[in-house]
Amino acid sequence: MTEMSAELWNSAARVLESNWAGDHMVPSHRLYPHQWSWDTAFIAIGLAYVNPARAWRDLRSLFEAQWPDGRVPHIVFDPALAETDYFPGPAFWGVPAYGTRPVHGSSGIVHPPLHAVAVWKVYRRALTHGASGIHQARTELEWLYPRLVAQQQYLSTRRDLGGAGLASIVHPWESGLDNSPAWDAAMANVPADMSLLTTHRRHDLDVVEAAHRPTDHDYARYVGLVLSYQAAGYSDTGLLDRHAFAVECPSFNAIYGTAELALAQIAGVLGHTTEATAHRERAQHITAAIVSRLWNPRTGMFHARDVRTGTLSPARCVSGFQPLLLPDLPAEQVTGVLAEMRSERFGLPSPSYDRTAPDFDTLRYWRGPVWINMNWLLRRGLLVHGRRAEAQELRKAMVRLVHDNGHYEYFDPDTGKGLGAPTFSWTAALALDLLADRSVPAYARAT
Ligand code: SER
Repeated sequence: MTEMSAELWNSAARVLESNWAGDHMVPSHRLYPHQWSWDTAFIAIGLAYVNPARAWRDLRSLFEAQWPDGRVPHIVFDPALAETDYFPGPAFWGVPAYGTRPVHGSSGIVHPPLHAVAVWKVYRRALTHGASGIHQARTELEWLYPRLVAQQQYLSTRRDLGGAGLASIVHPWESGLDNSPAWDAAMANVPADMSLLTTHRRHDLDVVEAAHRPTDHDYARYVGLVLSYQAAGYSDTGLLDRHAFAVECPSFNAIYGTAELALAQIAGVLGHTTEATAHRERAQHITAAIVSRLWNPRTGMFHARDVRTGTLSPARCVSGFQPLLLPDLPAEQVTGVLAEMRSERFGLPSPSYDRTAPDFDTLRYWRGPVWINMNWLLRRGLLVHGRRAEAQELRKAMVRLVHDNGHYEYFDPDTGKGLGAPTFSWTAALALDLLADRSVPAYARAT
């Protein structure tokens, strides 16, 4: 390991040590003090190198809060914290504690289902840890598998609002890409009742700069959409007729498809051969639906589809590259995405939004900054399609960015300066993985 790598490794391990909260990891103590769903997946991938027992504990903690309908909530609330420590907190969501873990309820919406991928990676890592690590990993795999399947089934049965085999998100927070320009067109139809912000006070602006965060206008809509979904007890029945936001996101659905491939691997290890085949077939169907519904041949990339209007968002966002994760993506789409990724609009590491767009914003959350998790997924997609040189270039650029600027939540795409929360768990965790794992996903195309 070079000196730079050793320094980065040690600082990343320290971030994960300090963000551990007893039975789960927080993304950041001050800005995000509870447990977040897709954060847990990214975190487990890196935590497996330094503390595999905690990686399993974190994943298990999240799934202990799974709802009876299979949904995995995007936030699980820590009972040790006050309502005012985060907005919107447990009282706002009004969700009971499901499952066995003594939590203070959860949110009512989901996050991208990256967990099967994480579970598979943590399991693979455990195989190098000797007999006791392998034994624990097998036990965890058996416990998690049916829960991961239920998570996918919730999405395929309750969230296929467009009826074509993709999962819809019903709140921008569900994408994990909160204020991405990908939602601007669909959000224009969502009422922004600014008076909601007098009854509900934002907490994030006490912690980080307002210029780095979504606007009040965004938050008025976010709060309104939760109240709309909550009004019928977070039921998905008839949602298209009564809820103002339903979108098929290319990143969410690429992860949804990739999860089926990871489940196929897990089912194989557990001896469920027929199920493994079914998971692979589902991944193929999801891939085909992404291509037929979200591809725009004129831009050469994927875009979010507004399910209520049937239109594609015009915005070019990093989420539109993520179908590269899918090994069966046809050559036309692979070539198009790679060309767009290398164009002057993006580059490696890719910013979250088209650099040439008039409203590109180098500071504001998902409207320009570089995020490590999105680029980590892009690197994986490059490897899946045999693009080793670009994957290596991206790996080096990410390692350099985090080493030089710290384990920030996101980064200015021009200067590299860290933005948002300063000691952010998934940045640290993925830095560990980037330093350690140069392997190619098991189902990568042979080139
Ligand atoms: N990302 C949201 C926030 O900023 C919540 O999921 O708090």
